[in-house]
Amino acid sequence: MSTAIDELETGATSAISAATTSAALEDVRVAVLGRSAPLTLQLREIGQLPPAERGAAGKRLNDVRVRLEAALTTRSEHVAGLELEQRLMAERVDVTLPGAPVPSGGLHVLTQVRRQLEDIFVGLGYTVAEGPEIELEHYNFTALNIPDGHPAKGETDTLWVGPGVCLRTHTSPVQARTMVAQEPPVYVICPGRVYRRDTPDATHSPIFHQIEGLVVDRGITLADLKGTLQYVARRLFGDGREIRLRTSYFPFTEPSVELDVSCFLCGGAGCGVCKGSGWIEMLGAGVVDPNVLTIAGYDPEVWSGFAFGMGIERIAFLKHGFPDLRLLYENDLRFLEQFPA
Ligand code: PHE
Repeated sequence: MSTAIDELETGATSAISAATTSAALEDVRVAVLGRSAPLTLQLREIGQLPPAERGAAGKRLNDVRVRLEAALTTRSEHVAGLELEQRLMAERVDVTLPGAPVPSGGLHVLTQVRRQLEDIFVGLGYTVAEGPEIELEHYNFTALNIPDGHPAKGETDTLWVGPGVCLRTHTSPVQARTMVAQEPPVYVICPGRVYRRDTPDATHSPIFHQIEGLVVDRGITLADLKGTLQYVARRLFGDGREIRLRTSYFPFTEPSVELDVSCFLCGGAGCGVCKGSGWIEMLGAGVVDPNVLTIAGYDPEVWSGFAFGMGIERIAFLKHGFPDLRLLYENDLRFLEQFPA
């Protein structure tokens, strides 16, 4: 019997050390220690031996079982280590391989310019206000001192949505809304889309973008407007840029001005871009008309202010000098990629 058990142990031990995967090792475990394994069967038959032999035979078989269990545990740790190593090798990432390029989007040049303007004004302490694009006639016109029958109303080529409701023709209604909503002092800018009945060409679009500015405080004058816009123009276009004010007319400002910047191409000498004048128009502005303050419920004896409205497309054009406004809306990547954000 001893020899048979020795052989069984030798065979089982070599089967254990030959197993190289945990699945194979599990098969070996079932074969050597499972319910129908020879060792298990022999242990079960101990009771049938003569009583004198039972003790020695039982101890011998048990010792073998304990050793085989220990061998299985050791082997299973080793096999687990092998398998882990194989998996790490198989799943290894070669960090020296060139990566697959991930196409990344960028900000549209108009968004870049709008954000740059917002940053400049937020740096000056302004907050950003917004208003609806479908606007009441009251805010788009009446509250801005443009009553019924006023010629300026016809001039703006309004797109009407229904009686008393239009697509806003400028961001100025947000001025009126802001004043109704809050007490002075006011320092706001209002960026947004505006609509006019225009046929698209190189310099016109029926939908474009403006940034409105409104300041109302004690003792505000045209000089504050000029100083503010001088600073903004230099932040936008560089320190060398000059500005000038030309008198103009808007129903909601008095006096009204148009602001020009010195030409980016010729620096003021006169060229094709500035049509020989050395200056390019940048925006409309003025001192808030006392009527507008009164309609909003502000006392014009106490408060005064300035306002301005600039086209974002125009500013983008002044910064980058592209030939046709329509390029901004066609989403041709060959154009847009020239303005990486
Ligand atoms: N709303 C005017 C326009 O669209 C611009 C403007 C704004 C003028 C504020 C004066 C003050 O042309």
